[in-house]
Amino acid sequence: MSGSYQVIARKWRPQTFDDVVGQDHVVRTLKNAIARNRIAHAYLLVGPRGTGKTTTARIFAKALNCAGGPKADFDVKDPVCQAIAEGTHLDVIEFDAATNTQVDKIREAILDSVAYAPASARYKIYIIDEVHMLSAGSFNALLKTLEEPPPHVKFVFATTDPQKMPLTVISRCQRFDLKPIPAELIVGRLRKIATDEKIKVADAALACIARMAEGGMRDAQSILDQMISFCGGEISEPDVLDVFGLVAADKIAELAGAVAAGDHQRIVAIVDECDANGRDLVRLLTDLQALVRGALLDAIAKGGRSDQLGGTPLTTEQLTRLLDGLREGEGGVKLGLAEKINFEVTLLKAVEASRARAIDSLIKELATLAEESPAAAGSGDEKKKA
Ligand SMILES: Nc1ncnc2c1ncn2[C@@H]1O[C@H](COP(=O)(O)OP(=O)(O)OP(=O)(O)O)[C@@H](O)[C@H]1O
Ligand SMILES: [Mg+2]
Repeated sequence: MSGSYQVIARKWRPQTFDDVVGQDHVVRTLKNAIARNRIAHAYLLVGPRGTGKTTTARIFAKALNCAGGPKADFDVKDPVCQAIAEGTHLDVIEFDAATNTQVDKIREAILDSVAYAPASARYKIYIIDEVHMLSAGSFNALLKTLEEPPPHVKFVFATTDPQKMPLTVISRCQRFDLKPIPAELIVGRLRKIATDEKIKVADAALACIARMAEGGMRDAQSILDQMISFCGGEISEPDVLDVFGLVAADKIAELAGAVAAGDHQRIVAIVDECDANGRDLVRLLTDLQALVRGALLDAIAKGGRSDQLGGTPLTTEQLTRLLDGLREGEGGVKLGLAEKINFEVTLLKAVEASRARAIDSLIKELATLAEESPAAAGSGDEKKKA
C-alpha cells in the first residue's frame, strides 16, 4: 500500500520545471536566469487559480537551493529538494498572506529574520502566497527590505489579483504572468495521471473535464478525483455529463448550427430537451459562446467568413453580433429565475442581432455602390445624359 490517500492535485504536483504544463514562457525564462546566474531578488507570479504559481515557486526554490546549485536540472531525490517539496525546509519559508495580513505577522515571520544567514542552504527563500491580501501597513513594512534585501534572501510572491497590489511593490519584482492552461494540455496531463492510476477514461470524458476546468489544472484534477469516487475505475462521457449537468459536445454543436442557420424551431426543441434532462443552461450558454468565438477566430483567419457552425457560412460581422447577443443575455440566464425562458430569448435575440446587422451592412454596401457608379443607383436620367 502507498500510505494514506492523497488527492490527485497534491499527489501530482509537478516536481521539476519540465513537469510544469502550459507555462513554457515562465519556465524558460527562469531556467535561463539560473543558467546565466542572473537571478533577481524578487519575483512575482501572477495567474488564475490552479495554474502553477505555488508549484513554480517551490520548483524555483529547489533550483536555487539544491546540492551543487543553483541549477535548473536538480535531482528530485536530493534531500534539500525533498524537504522543499514537503514544505519542511527551514530556509524556504512559505507565508500565507491571506491569513496573515497584519503588519506584526509579516514582521514576525519575515522582516525580523531576513538579516540572519540561512540555516543550512544557499538562500533563504520567502514564498508569499496571495500576496495581494497584505495590509497597506504590511506592504509598507516590506518595501524597504524588498528594495535591498541581503544577498542571501530571495522573495517569490504569488497572486491571482495583482491589481490589488501597490505599484511600488510590483515595480521591485520581476513579474511573470501564468496563463490559463489550454484544454488540450489539460487533457494530456489528465490522460497521463489516469493511465498511471489505472483508471479508464474516455477521451470525450477528459475533453469534457478540461472544458469545465476553464484553464485551471487544479480544478481539472479535482473534477477527475470526483469522477473517480463517483464511477470507480472506468469513466465515460455520459458519466461526466450526468454528474455535472453538462450537454454533450455534439449536441452543443447541433445547437450552434441551429443558431447559425436561424432555425427557431430546432433551437427551441434542443433547449427543451436539454432542460428536460436537467442540464445546466448557464454552462450551456458558456459552451455555446466558446463555439461561436472559435468560429469568429476561424472567420478572421480565413479572411472574413467561417462555416464552422453547422455549415452555415457567417461573416466576421455576423459572428461578432451573434457572440455579442449571447453575452448580453448572460446576466438574465445566470439570475436563475425563468432560466429556460431567458435562455431561449437570448438565443433568439442573438439570431436576430446577427441577421439585423447583415441587412444593415447590405444597405451600406448599396449606398457605396450607388456612390461609386451613379448608374447602378437606378437613376435613369443620368444614364441618358451619359
Ligand atoms: N502548470 C501546471 N502543470 C501541471 N500541474 C499543475 C499546473 N498548475 C497547477 N497544477 C496542478 O494543480 C495543483 C495546484 O497548483 P498550484 O498550487 O501551483 O496552483 P496556484 O497557481 O498556486 O493556485 P492558487 O492561486 O489557487 O494558489 C498542483 O498541485 C498541480 O497538481
Ligand atoms: Mg497557490
